[in-house]
Amino acid sequence: MAKKQEATYPPISPVPYHVGIIMDGNGRWAKRRGLPRQMGHRAGVNNIQPVLEGCVEFGVKVLTIYAFSTENWHRPPEEVSGLMQLLGYTIRRRLSELHKNGVQIRHSGRLEGINPELQEQIRHALEVTKNNDRIILNVAFNYGGRSEILDAVRQIIRDGIDPDELTEEVFSRYLYTGDLPDPDLIIRTGGEYRLSNFLIWQAAYSEYYTTPTYWPDFDKDELYKALAEYAARERRFGRVPDATPA
Ligand code: FPP
Repeated sequence: MAKKQEATYPPISPVPYHVGIIMDGNGRWAKRRGLPRQMGHRAGVNNIQPVLEGCVEFGVKVLTIYAFSTENWHRPPEEVSGLMQLLGYTIRRRLSELHKNGVQIRHSGRLEGINPELQEQIRHALEVTKNNDRIILNVAFNYGGRSEILDAVRQIIRDGIDPDELTEEVFSRYLYTGDLPDPDLIIRTGGEYRLSNFLIWQAAYSEYYTTPTYWPDFDKDELYKALAEYAARERRFGRVPDATPA
């Protein structure tokens, strides 16, 4: 049988340095197939690796994925524990391969509230991969943008920062994302038009892209399409566009 032709992708410019993805639609993906929601989450986890590889191929340097929000605790207990187990399982199954491929893993979110064993697995993954520099995979887990801002404010107060010294740059460094640059592009799968408490400070000037495709079906072609649309946009950061003389 003829092998499927590998797609070739013309280079894109500019490539977003940092892409954030709201991986929505796992539940609907499963429902459409008459499967339990957990199967959708499993398919969702399996889709992270190919999208990460696509990011490396296209030149993205930081990928932040929204894996578990502070609001997700309100889901049925079996779904919450399913998502927790999936993270532990993914770290056990994929860590050595991610490390071998030069992926630096980061975590954005609160460790408190996560069970201690899983916390330890997360710390271990960060420690093992901390010197890798091919791409950063920042996993937003037990993450909420508002809690992130509150946690930053609390720490700023504890550190006794002089209010007159508090600039946007200083504040940004207190966020979970620390030294990471702001996301250039936020992609949301599953067709909705919301930020859902994701990187609310950092996304102030991000470009936004949404697709009706459910996360488990979001493949390299879809990623390329999102990056190409980003490249075609004009980012003005609140300024007037360059006037070209007639
Ligand atoms: C939203 O789908 C998905 C999430 C709860 C976050 C994404 C989670 C994964 C990809 C799996 C967990 C990842 C790790 C690394 C542990 P949904 O359930 O809201 O879908 P729906 O809107 O169709 O119901």
